Amino acid sequence: MRLEQLDIADVRSIREVRLAPGPGLNLLIGSNGAGKTSVLEALHLLAYGRSFRGRVRDGLIRTGAPALQLFARWSEQEGTRRHQVGLRHAGSEWQGRLDGADVAQLSELCTALAAVTFEPGSHALLSGGGEPRRRLLDWGLFHVEPEFLPVWRRHARALKQRNALLKAGGANAALDVWDFELAQAGESLDRHRRSYVEALEPKVEQWAHELIPELGAAQHGYLPGWRREELTLADALLVNRERDRQLGHTTAGPHRADLLLGFAARPAREPLSRGQSKLAALALLLAQAEDFRARRGEWPLILLDDLASELDRGHRHALLTALVASGAQVFITGTELDALELDPAWRATVFHVEHGAIRPA
Ligand SMILES: Nc1ncnc2c1ncn2[C@@H]1O[C@H](COP(=O)(O)OP(=O)(O)OP(=O)(O)O)[C@@H](O)[C@H]1O
Ligand SMILES: [Mg+2]
Repeated sequence: MRLEQLDIADVRSIREVRLAPGPGLNLLIGSNGAGKTSVLEALHLLAYGRSFRGRVRDGLIRTGAPALQLFARWSEQEGTRRHQVGLRHAGSEWQGRLDGADVAQLSELCTALAAVTFEPGSHALLSGGGEPRRRLLDWGLFHVEPEFLPVWRRHARALKQRNALLKAGGANAALDVWDFELAQAGESLDRHRRSYVEALEPKVEQWAHELIPELGAAQHGYLPGWRREELTLADALLVNRERDRQLGHTTAGPHRADLLLGFAARPAREPLSRGQSKLAALALLLAQAEDFRARRGEWPLILLDDLASELDRGHRHALLTALVASGAQVFITGTELDALELDPAWRATVFHVEHGAIRPA
């Protein structure tokens, strides 16, 4: 995907800007508080329906403005296909348009524009709980597997219904119905995720080798969220029913699944440093972006917020070299251009961001 135009109005301190990015590397440089991250948030909002710093109503709309407005135009397949989206978001109410037609659900915009985001909180992908890793897997599947969204929705609905029944002390007969539904959707969700993790594996290994060779070979695994080797999901739900009743929620199942990533030269009990966690998270995200490219024929947008912080010179250089070689369109924010030590052969497009305004360098 190649973003050709982005218009942003009333996002954080940005009143109104237009960005005409170049192919390959785009650098947004400016001092603290200039509005760099806000530009990436705007793109992330179009691709995910929310910001990576929280909900739209929690401060994304410029103070005093009734709503934020975004417009993006991009091309696909070497310019043979063009798309455009518009979004006006007032915090809870929103209107979106995709290629000239109104959209009924935000997910329609998110299906069209794909972006992979790395931001200062992304180290939690490796060091925190399983939720962001499950979200990462499901995001990938959402984009590359058309059958996935209905399965995901069916599973989410069944889980919600079962949990509500458990809390309310519902009858066994009613629980049987939702257990059946949850088991069917959950087994299918699990199959999708397992085959996706398998496809990601060699790509994670390769990116980890490129970015953090000193940690040794990346080791990858998937925990389904219940003892799948021993029990079907239907049996696990039945076995756990009494305990689940006491706790008021479903304790085992694909909603507890997890993706494991370890390294041969690093025993599991030795935690990674923050910088290493960031690099490992990057390897995971870029593997996912590459899988998207392999299946869809092009890269998603790659958004890297505050890249230079906590990555040393050597790691930064390895990453930028690999990104330029990939041919993906990349957006990087930073406070100092010099810190990125650009090679002129990379042909980066540089923008200066200042008080919510953007100008090409
Ligand atoms: N709702 C809002 N209305 C107006 N201004 C806001 C709002 N939310 C945040 N801001 C301001 O917007 C500015 C831009 O923030 P942003 O996070 O994009 O800066 P940045 O360039 O990424 O800075 P840093 O280098 O520190 O990461 C900040 O000065 C912030 O205080
Ligand atoms: Mg920032």
